[in-house]
Order: sequence, then structure tokens, then C-alpha cells
Amino acid sequence: MALRRIYLFSLALVWGCMASSSSSQQTAVAPPQDLQITDPGLLGSLDIEWKPPPNVQTFNECTVKYKFEYRNTGDREWKVIFTRKLKFRVGFDLSRTAEVKVQTLLEGRCTNDVEVQSEWIYATFQVPLQGKLESEVQNFHCIYHDWEYLKCTWQPGLLAPRGVHYGLYYWYEGLDHAVQCDDYIQDHGINIGCMLQNLSQAEYKDLSICVNGSAAATLLRPLYATLRLHNLAKPSPPKQLVVSMSASEELRVVWSPPGGETPPQCLEYEVQLAEEQGKAKAAWASVSTQMETAFTISRANQSRISCVRVRGRTNNFCADQGFWSEWTQECFSVSRTEDKQLFILIPVILSLSSSLIIFMLIGQCKKRTPAGKAMYMSVGC
Ligand SMILES: *[C@@H]1O[C@H](CO)[C@@H](O)[C@H](O)[C@H]1NC(C)=O
Ligand SMILES: *[C@@H]1O[C@H](CO)[C@@H](O)[C@H](O)[C@H]1NC(C)=O
Ligand SMILES: *[C@@H]1O[C@H](CO)[C@@H](O)[C@H](O)[C@H]1NC(C)=O
Repeated sequence: MALRRIYLFSLALVWGCMASSSSSQQTAVAPPQDLQITDPGLLGSLDIEWKPPPNVQTFNECTVKYKFEYRNTGDREWKVIFTRKLKFRVGFDLSRTAEVKVQTLLEGRCTNDVEVQSEWIYATFQVPLQGKLESEVQNFHCIYHDWEYLKCTWQPGLLAPRGVHYGLYYWYEGLDHAVQCDDYIQDHGINIGCMLQNLSQAEYKDLSICVNGSAAATLLRPLYATLRLHNLAKPSPPKQLVVSMSASEELRVVWSPPGGETPPQCLEYEVQLAEEQGKAKAAWASVSTQMETAFTISRANQSRISCVRVRGRTNNFCADQGFWSEWTQECFSVSRTEDKQLFILIPVILSLSSSLIIFMLIGQCKKRTPAGKAMYMSVGC
């Protein structure tokens, strides 16, 4: 009885699905409506919203999802998000046009478990781009020193008029609104850089930056940048570099991670060696890139002076890229084995030969003066 009921039920199900799938093939699901992009003033993040398609209530045994894609004009790839939500905040480069598109995805019994896609609906957004492109600041770049402070610098734009005033604004997820830099670096009264402290909350996120400017009668083009602090980190040089020689005549190099807020597990080091070859100027050669803070070098060339230098940077477990620190350098000099023997031999030979001469002299003088006069006089003969 129960079996029969299940059989009937599944028959009905198959029939229903066939019916609905054939109908869904004819009447495709509609795209979402009212796609809108708004700028909340966060220097890169835009809010994208849409409404469900008009007939969405009729698909009661199906799930409605959306495929949302976005990019900046000029990008080759679209970034894709599958969602059931109707609102998103995503990051763009505001100096270029933002493009978004959304389609409805319908799947379930009403489609015979086949995914049905609607047409796309598109929208674009562009902040008003004031001023000429040449008025934008140049050579903008930032370094995150020791994971402690971010130093950004720039040069005035080519078309920057006299008396220009630049401002740097930044925002990251967690701040209510964009914040202006409060520690500018100046050159002849013009802001050409900014120091930002206390950014640990912004690590491993997008940090949106805008450098804009104003001058009496001219509009200047703002510069937008999205930074990732961990990819801009530059550590201090390694500390306490010690080079010593082991019993087996190997150079043992040991150092400590730099101080500051740099996570020690985020560092890798490059070790270079320069061995003096006679009078030839030593050339640096890379001997290791590693995460450990010790290294042993075999002294193949038995040179007298070896210099070792070590620098650090963020490893690829913590970042895609980073900046090398400056070098820490230490030289180690060893006297050659032959030299050592010479050093011992010379005094021995010297003392031996001088005592021999004295004995010979004494002997000669004694022969000449058998009465045995004072030695001083005899030496004088
Ligand atoms: C650092 O930032 C946090 C929030 O991110 C804030 O609560 C704290 O007061 C700031 N500290 C300083 C010294 O500015
Ligand atoms: C620069 O950008 C900030 C943040 O968007 C804005 O508040 C400010 O008015 C802008 N200044 C100029 C001169 O455009
Ligand atoms: C050792 O000497 C050889 C030949 O003189 C040279 O090619 C090599 O680079 C030297 N090694 C180091 C570590 O200086």
C-alpha cells in the first residue's frame, strides 16, 4: 500500500516536473529589476542593489539565486558572486568606470532540477572625474614599515598650479567614514606625503586611498588607490648578526629577526657572502634564501676575510610580495694556516739566530782578551 502510494507520488512528481520543465524552457525566468549603484563615499566601495524579478512568487518549489558579476572597465575578468542577497558592497577603482551585471538563477522541482538562467541586467557607475588627467599626483607609492606605520609619498601633478593643497583620505572596513591624514610630509609648504599609524585593523583588507587636491582656480584630478598593507611591508634589517668559525672551519652565521611589529613567522631572509680573493674586490654571492635565522657556510676558498650580509622580507605565506629590508653586514677574518705557522716560526728563528750571534761574539772576545776584561769593552772590539 505504502509502496503503491510512493509510486503514484513519484509518477506525479515526474509528470509535474516534465510539465514544468517544458514550460520553463519556453518561459525563461526574468532578470532582476532596478539594478542600482550608489557611492557611500568610502573611496572605492560601492553599494549595489537590485530587486527580485516580478514573477518570483510563482516559482514556489524552486530556489531563486543571483549571479552577480563586477569589474572595472578595462579589466579582462569579471569577479563573480553567487548569492541570494539583494545588496552588496564591493570595491572598485574609482578612477575607472565600475561595471556590474546580475542575472536570476532558478533551480528546483519547477525546473526539473536544471538551472535556468535569466537574461543579464547591467549598470555602470563613474564618479565625476574633475580636472585634467595630468593634474593627478605622480609617483604615488606607500611602504608599510615594520608593520607599524604606513608612509605614502607622491609628487605634485604636472599641471599643478602654485599654492596647490593636497589631501590624503583613507578608509577600510570598520571605519564609519573616510578619514583624512593628520600627519603630512611637506616640501616647501606643499603636502607630498602622509604618515599613518595604528593600521593593524586594516591589515589583510583593502585599504582605499584617495589623494585629491585643490588650487584657487583649477580642478585637480583625484588619485584613487587600493592597498593591501601586508603586501607593502618592509621590515627593519635583521639584528645581532654574528659570524663565527666552527671547529670544522665552517662559517656559522646567526641573526635575530628585526624588532618592531613585523610578525617573525612572516619573514624570509637572504644570506650573501663575499670572500676576499687576494687583492681582488669581493663580489657578493647569494648563498641562501630561507626562513630560519641561522646558516652554515663551508669556506670553500679558504679566504682570509669573509663578509656576510643578511636582509629580510615578508615570505609568501604572509603576502604576495613585499620589500626587502636594508642589509645587516658582518665581516670575519681568519689568518691562514701557513700564516699561523710563519707567525710562530719567525720569533723562534729570530731568537735562535740572535743568541747564536751573541755566543759567537763572546767566544771571539774571550780568545782576544784572556785576562777577561769587562764584557762591554770586549763587545766593543
Ligand atoms: C588605534 O585604532 C583603534 C581602532 O582601530 C582605536 O580604538 C585606538 O584608540 C587607536 N589608537 C591610537 C593610539 O590611535
Ligand atoms: C577630497 O576627498 C575627500 C573625501 O572624498 C572629500 O571630502 C574632499 O572634499 C575632497 N577634496 C577636494 C578638494 O576635492
Ligand atoms: C671560490 O673560488 C672560485 C674560483 O676561484 C670562484 O669561482 C668561487 O666563486 C669562489 N667562491 C666564493 C664563495 O667566493
